[in-house]
Amino acid sequence: MLTARGLNQYYGGSHTLRSVDLDVEKGRCTALMGRNGVGKTTLLRCLMGVLPIASGSVEFAGHDIARLSPHRRAALGMTYVPQGREIFARLTVEENIFMGMACLPARQARRVSGEIYELFPVLRDMLRRRGGDLSGGQQQQLAIARALVANPRLIILDEPTEGIQPSIIKDIERVIRLLRDRGDIAILLCEQYFDFARALADRFVVLSRGEVVASGGAEQMDDDSVRRHLAV
Ligand SMILES: Nc1ncnc2c1ncn2[C@@H]1O[C@H](COP(=O)(O)OP(=O)(O)OP(=O)(O)O)[C@@H](O)[C@H]1O
Ligand SMILES: [Mg+2]
Repeated sequence: MLTARGLNQYYGGSHTLRSVDLDVEKGRCTALMGRNGVGKTTLLRCLMGVLPIASGSVEFAGHDIARLSPHRRAALGMTYVPQGREIFARLTVEENIFMGMACLPARQARRVSGEIYELFPVLRDMLRRRGGDLSGGQQQQLAIARALVANPRLIILDEPTEGIQPSIIKDIERVIRLLRDRGDIAILLCEQYFDFARALADRFVVLSRGEVVASGGAEQMDDDSVRRHLAV
């Protein structure tokens, strides 16, 4: 579904992504892992088009998207749940969800499918609350809901468990597993919480200082060679 080859990116003089290759398949969850500051968010922002790349290629569902704007990528079926959630604090829960449909043709963007409230029942009870009044975990659920109403073919999640209480982490894990098992969506999950990534990933990629230093199938995730790059 998504193929990136030889991605390079710089912040001024610092070489933040170094020839990164990445594949994300339909019906599979790929975990992107690595310590703080290795370039995970930078990579996701480059894939989504929020940051330009210096060189390399990015293809999504057969389209060359390397130079497309983020909203064009969204219209092709890519969606992004940013680190820190970036909920619109002054909009209601319902308005936040509607924002997720901004990339859809007007005809499709009028109704929120009830499925979203089956996945996240708590949101139905809070439709009129302001986003900023929700707990961190509820905001994370809202951010995922906002991404899913766009009917994505690829969902990119940046550290969805960061700062979230364990009971809600379980709910989020259940939703991601359900999406994966549905088989029609590709999932790129950036995560530092190893057990969470381990529970969901079919494949993994480890970044260190902007470089891919390990990758493979889920069965290799427990290897010392992988853990060495993740332990603080
Ligand atoms: N806008 C920016 N301008 C300059 N440098 C930046 C910018 N954003 C990030 N960096 C630097 O680029 C490197 C990679 O940052 P990035 O946020 O991609 O890491 P990360 O792996 O997502 O970290 P974390 O796990 O803490 O979220 C870090 O050294 C960071 O300080
Ligand atoms: Mg990050």
